[in-house]
Amino acid sequence: MDKLIRLDKFLSSQLNISRTDAKKLIAKKRISFSSSKPVRPETQIDTCSETVFFDGKEINFKKFLYIAQNKPAGVVSASNDDSLTVIDILPENLKRQGLFPAGRLDKDSTGFVLITDDGEFAHNILSPSKHIEKTYIITLLRNVTERETLEVTEGMVLGDEKLKPAKLKKLEDKTYEITLTQGRYHQIKRMFGSFDNPVQTLHRIKIGSLLLPPELSPGESRELTSEEIKLIK
Ligand code: URA
Repeated sequence: MDKLIRLDKFLSSQLNISRTDAKKLIAKKRISFSSSKPVRPETQIDTCSETVFFDGKEINFKKFLYIAQNKPAGVVSASNDDSLTVIDILPENLKRQGLFPAGRLDKDSTGFVLITDDGEFAHNILSPSKHIEKTYIITLLRNVTERETLEVTEGMVLGDEKLKPAKLKKLEDKTYEITLTQGRYHQIKRMFGSFDNPVQTLHRIKIGSLLLPPELSPGESRELTSEEIKLIK
């Protein structure tokens, strides 16, 4: 979004309403400015210097949203799908046009999904060259052997690719914490599937250095603070 933006577009993005509804709010005189500019749909406002009020209450301008969600099983990491998506289950106050999940978790996997409308940020954290770590708790059919642990931690061959080394820590019987720096399609399931040790459950707990906010129950989402966003990169 540019610094200068038409008022109807600003209202549509910040209040998650259509441009038509934005125009209606303006017509009903429910929108006002800190300056004496005319309040019209086409008025260009400077988001750095202008304050816009809705029914007298300041609209807190947010260029981009960064949301953490504890994805439940059965929900798809996509913006549009025939099944329920991570966007569908956002609370109304966090929904707005242009949001998408930055990275995927399988439909049956659970845990930390980052949702944003900042394409550059998403591109950066997904870029393989950035090596952003992602940490998961997995349960397996059986315990991992020493030889398999070595393969995982030294970088195993999957299909025709040699994967980057992963960290693997046993937490309890058949339960492990695994940290990857790359995100190949169904990577963890394919890694352990190749050992005939299918993944039973997979839960993402961390992206970069940011833990999934512990207060989020499955299905819940909340906006991240700027300090939390910094921990991802
Ligand atoms: N690896 C998988 O196999 N599935 C996920 O959802 C994430 C990583």
